[in-house]
Amino acid sequence: MNKILATGGTGYIGSHTVVELIKAGYEVDIVDNLFNSKSTVIDKIEEITGKKPNFYKVDLLDSEELEKVFNQNEYDAVLHFAGLKAVGESVEKPLLYFHNNITGTINLLKAMQNHHVDKLIFSSSATVYGVQDSPEYIETMQTGVGISNPYGRTKYFIEEIIKDYATSNPDFEAILLRYFNPVGAHPSGLLGEDPNGIPNNLMPIIMRVWDGRIDQLSVYGNDYPTADGTCRRDYIHVVDLAKGHVICLNHLKKGVEVYNLGTGEPSSVMEIINAFEKASNEKLPYKIIERRAGDLPEFWADAHKANSELGWHTELTIDDAMRDTINYLKKNKD
Ligand code: NAD
Ligand code: WQD
Repeated sequence: MNKILATGGTGYIGSHTVVELIKAGYEVDIVDNLFNSKSTVIDKIEEITGKKPNFYKVDLLDSEELEKVFNQNEYDAVLHFAGLKAVGESVEKPLLYFHNNITGTINLLKAMQNHHVDKLIFSSSATVYGVQDSPEYIETMQTGVGISNPYGRTKYFIEEIIKDYATSNPDFEAILLRYFNPVGAHPSGLLGEDPNGIPNNLMPIIMRVWDGRIDQLSVYGNDYPTADGTCRRDYIHVVDLAKGHVICLNHLKKGVEVYNLGTGEPSSVMEIINAFEKASNEKLPYKIIERRAGDLPEFWADAHKANSELGWHTELTIDDAMRDTINYLKKNKD
């Protein structure tokens, strides 16, 4: 197996994964519509790896253009990162999210089917677990119940679509990766999270407070039943996450497998603020405001399945993630 297509490969997680794939010797093509990323990422990937991935500026909703990409290349596997991911926006524009994420995935699966490409790794999310009795999410838990927003439901529906497609195609091999909260940047400072528009996730907001584009961080509640009262999440360094994908390529087998990719150790919002302040040696302005609708007090990954079956373990810490984020910020001030 040598040639990989990465949809959404210029995005945050996709770009870090493309770097790790190239480092592992794979040839990688990228399809992205650049809705939430920049084409300059391709040059950054080349700067880090010495190899420039082929880039197709194609929207997954444009099945004809997608078909042309598959006509021109023979892919061994597809890593499917492309999708819209802003939870709040998905509540305002559910049809946009269902159309982009679900129709985009169906178009991709059709192109794969037409060209007999039978290996897929899909970027799913811890959000598919919805509401559970335990905050430690394990792959065997039922999914799809109590998901609080349309974005999360697109991930759940896509997982089900992939399972149904696999049932119909006995040659199909898929892995659904449920990411927890990816943070950090490439240690080179060349790649990091740089969303277009107003960010919603904690780290991109902290980054904009640091560079002055946002006045202060609003912490959504400090009256949760956690030690310091702020919510706890499983923050995973994006490079550890990226490496997980490369390992998965060697573990694809007939049918559909699911893995949580998380550290198994949650941190609170206050712990993240403290770690950022320590790494930057600067105070981060913040205020405590009311809870954000839909936030759960805490959840984290049971990562034992990925640890034991894939031999994948996280190597980087929250402090590493903060150091790499500050380095990225300093190198990309302009
Ligand atoms: P990102 O926005 O940085 O990357 C996604 C990329 O997909 C972007 O470059 C965007 O331009 C592209 N894209 C979107 N719709 C497209 C379409 N129709 N056709 C072609 N390209 C399209 O996001 P990310 O953080 O790198 O996330 C990657 C994947 O991982 C997403 O599917 C996301 O839902 C999932 N995920 C992310 C997180 C997270 O917190 N970052 C957590 C869990 C799951
Ligand atoms: C993290 C913590 C907030 C912003 C979401 C999606 C999930 C997955 C990851 C894709 C929470 C707090 C945040 C701010 C804050 N994405 N926070 N002030 O909500 O855990 O998960 O992103 O699949 O599906 O739901 O991530 O980064 O938004 O929030 O206090 O301005 O930071 O309350 O506790 P979340 P997040």
